[in-house]
Amino acid sequence: MAKKPRIVIIGAGMAGLTAANKLYTSTGSDHLFELVVVEGGDRIGGRINTSEFCGDRIEMGATWIHGIGGSPVHQIAREIHALESDKPWECMDGFSGEPKTIAEGGFELNASIVDPISTLFKNLMDFAQGKLTEDSAGSGGDACYYNFAAKAALKDCTSNGGFGNQSVGAFLRRGLGAYWDSCKDRGELNGYGKWSRKLLEEAVFAMHENTQRTYTSAGDLFNLDYEAESEYRMFPGEEITISKGYLSIIEHLASVLPPGVIQLGRKVTRIEWQPEGHKSILVPNGYDSRPVKIEFCDGSFMLADHVIVTVSLGVLKSGTGQDSGMFNPPLPPFKTEAISRLGYGVVNKLFLQWSPNGNRPANDKEKFPSLQIVFHTPESELRHEKIPGWMRRTASLSPIYNNSSVLLSWFAGKEALELETLSDEEIINGVSATVSGLLPVSKHKKEDKYNSPEFCNGNVESCDDNGVRFGKVLKSKWGSDPLFLGSYSYVAVGSSGADLDTMAEPLPKLGSTDSDHHPLQILFAGEATHRTHYSTTHGAYFSGLREANRLLKHYRCVGI
Ligand SMILES: Cc1cc2nc3c(=O)[nH]c(=O)nc-3n(C[C@H](O)[C@H](O)[C@H](O)COP(=O)(O)OP(=O)(O)OC[C@H]3O[C@@H](n4cnc5c(N)ncnc54)[C@H](O)[C@@H]3O)c2cc1C
Ligand SMILES: *[C@@H]1O[C@H](CO)[C@@H](O)[C@H](O)[C@H]1NC(C)=O
Ligand SMILES: *[C@@H]1O[C@H](CO)[C@@H](O)[C@H](O)[C@H]1NC(C)=O
Ligand SMILES: *[C@@H]1O[C@H](CO)[C@@H](O)[C@H](O)[C@H]1NC(C)=O
Ligand SMILES: *[C@@H]1O[C@H](CO)[C@@H](O)[C@H](O)[C@H]1NC(C)=O
Ligand SMILES: *[C@@H]1O[C@H](CO)[C@@H](O)[C@H](O)[C@H]1NC(C)=O
Repeated sequence: MAKKPRIVIIGAGMAGLTAANKLYTSTGSDHLFELVVVEGGDRIGGRINTSEFCGDRIEMGATWIHGIGGSPVHQIAREIHALESDKPWECMDGFSGEPKTIAEGGFELNASIVDPISTLFKNLMDFAQGKLTEDSAGSGGDACYYNFAAKAALKDCTSNGGFGNQSVGAFLRRGLGAYWDSCKDRGELNGYGKWSRKLLEEAVFAMHENTQRTYTSAGDLFNLDYEAESEYRMFPGEEITISKGYLSIIEHLASVLPPGVIQLGRKVTRIEWQPEGHKSILVPNGYDSRPVKIEFCDGSFMLADHVIVTVSLGVLKSGTGQDSGMFNPPLPPFKTEAISRLGYGVVNKLFLQWSPNGNRPANDKEKFPSLQIVFHTPESELRHEKIPGWMRRTASLSPIYNNSSVLLSWFAGKEALELETLSDEEIINGVSATVSGLLPVSKHKKEDKYNSPEFCNGNVESCDDNGVRFGKVLKSKWGSDPLFLGSYSYVAVGSSGADLDTMAEPLPKLGSTDSDHHPLQILFAGEATHRTHYSTTHGAYFSGLREANRLLKHYRCVGI
């Protein structure tokens, strides 16, 4: 009697569970495969980690459906009624309210300063992403701002013979330079202390750069490839969060699998495969001809015909180093080179409980404003000394919905990594010092906006560093968790979209000696294997479908 092919999926995140769901539901009642999902952690979901904080539902990882038009995640969410909830959840009112933009030293910035820079930044990004073209600029109303982008792009062409290896960071700064060159006489600014117009404009621009760092996970935008930016695809329509939590999508995908298919606490330490010449493996009751041997941290192992690897790019980067081989024999150079060239960064979320007066929850009238934060540049002598370095590239601090007492900030790059090492007390002190640094450095006055009753409960003293305003703290730790080693991938300078395609190629390579006997031994899915939707949950979803279909097609089952 022929054995059923055994498929082992490594990782119970979005990609792994989508593949498992597809393989299981496509092969009818006489299930053609023996299917196992092995997960190193003690929960399913991977970088989807819905949680709860002070009575609100929050997301430690994936947060948004990036455009509802055509999103498979949105479709599932709708079908399972995950978009309805009685319990308050993160961003239930969208990007709530008009944010106040505050510059270090306590200056609330007038829209006449912020808006032109915000528009400039948006247009530069639209241009980089290919949403703003020469054609649309000719007819559109933003021709002026388009010109700055075009000038920035042109400077690039003339100085470097094409976009080649240029970064988004360099392009953005050239755009700001072009803007300044074109608008020299905008007059002096008064009433902003030692901030000059140019310093303020640069700092507002830097605030948007910091937001972009969290969107892309590129800790340094000078390492984010310019050309690949225009290959990235977004779905049209609204961006929303999932009322019942992102995990409800994961649970739905897993729900079709019989008990025992998903095995938690099964961390894979080694994958032995047979790129050429096959040997049978000795097992307790004889020899087994399955080509792949998967070893676990407890010393046990499992044999498989096919393994779908869905671990993060960070885990692959660390597992394909010279001395730490997760694969035996090691992955071929075309794979390891793509793995090392692509970018993978750290993004973390920090949740803080805010209460205006001791531990009493905020009431409706005492709302923490949605803040956009503008800091002095690192070189500036005007920096408020008590604001810690790890806070200084954070673009915002806002309630997670209109009147929530839970505040959220996003961190990227080395500041995000540093955040993971801090104690709750250090975090509270740092955030308090930052909020204080946003207050006027001069003598506090009752009429100052941020000493208003809504902000400090009418008590100016409670606004100093000793005031009890922040209670509990919860932060994600994607960078140091060995099952993730970061947050999501990006195309780094020196890499390209082609490397994402390379990530997706199965092994052994087609046409190699053993591929005829034992094809598709190792398949790759996961966010970092999708050329146009990398870094997202739906990218991970598509990649899981892709690899399930590859196997279904191989066994002549019909996939979609
Ligand atoms: C802070 C943050 C915010 C985000 N925001 C959004 C957002 O708003 N919208 C969006 O679309 N996406 C967002 N993302 C990205 C999204 O979460 C990921 O792209 C997606 O969840 C990745 O799914 P995956 O299946 O590819 O990988 P993972 O979810 O990482 O799944 C891989 C699984 O493999 C397991 N594993 C790792 N090593 C081993 C091993 N050796 N043995 C066994 N198992 C192992 C891991 O534990 C994990 O469960 C965000 C991510 C983060 C971190
Ligand atoms: C948020 O609060 C403002 C006023 O404080 C109110 O006008 C608005 O309707 C509220 N939004 C939601 C979604 O509750
Ligand atoms: C912004 O500043 C301009 C010019 O200084 C002023 O005319 C305008 O009233 C200000 N707007 C607001 C909302 O304060
Ligand atoms: C970019 O290209 C130029 C010229 O081809 C080269 O000198 C430079 O080292 C490259 N930079 C990076 C970061 O690859
Ligand atoms: C927010 O405001 C609404 C409507 O006023 C109220 O029902 C709700 O309890 C408030 N939530 C919090 C967390 O204060
Ligand atoms: C997932 O969420 C829990 C809180 O529910 C948290 O303790 C854990 O650190 C989170 N995982 C990561 C990697 O941030």
